[in-house]
Amino acid sequence: MSRKPLIVGLGGTIRAGSSTEKALVCALRHAEGLGAETRLLGGEFLGGLPIFDPRPGDSTAGQIELAEAIRSADGVIVASPGYHGSISGVIKNALDTLELTRSDPSPYLTAKPVGTIITADGWQAAGTTLMALRAIIHALRGWPTPFGAALNAGTGLFDEAGDCKDQKDAWQLATVAEQVVEFAQMKARR
Ligand SMILES: Cc1cc2nc3c(=O)[nH]c(=O)nc-3n(C[C@H](O)[C@H](O)[C@H](O)COP(=O)(O)O)c2cc1C
Repeated sequence: MSRKPLIVGLGGTIRAGSSTEKALVCALRHAEGLGAETRLLGGEFLGGLPIFDPRPGDSTAGQIELAEAIRSADGVIVASPGYHGSISGVIKNALDTLELTRSDPSPYLTAKPVGTIITADGWQAAGTTLMALRAIIHALRGWPTPFGAALNAGTGLFDEAGDCKDQKDAWQLATVAEQVVEFAQMKARR
């Protein structure tokens, strides 16, 4: 690949200090260490998007920014909290907004590697949310990476510097980043 792959991170919650967004930032930092460029569309940005309306009409600047970021991405990492056993409304709305790319030559997440990160207060929701997110990525024609990170946020995951307290969590986030960057580079070599 003659240029750096661009990895777009989509995720977090609208809560200040969101652990989901911190996890996403850790994964993006790791991707940068592997030679990628990254762009974060975090909880505050995603929470400001209007509820996606499928009727014809003008898009907001935020909706256009999201669609453009995904179009230009070589890989994507989506990070969602487990809310009542599935992904949050904010993340689902952002993914629904990709309907704006429906008529593109490569709509939605076509042919892009998509890493997944889930935070939840328990393992049960982490598992069901991961499965739900992967099903949505398949529907959007993306390639979920083989490994998906599942973090138990009930225990306080990050230190003051935003690094994982537990090495196993650091490994999970690094693995997601590695798989997305590797797939993006593999695809560029074809
Ligand atoms: C509306 C709502 C629903 C939730 N539902 C679940 C759940 O079903 N299972 C679970 O383990 N945690 C649940 N949680 C806890 C969140 O998944 C957890 O706190 C998450 O890590 C919050 O992410 P944040 O720190 O990025 O805000 C819920 C939290 C909220 C606010």
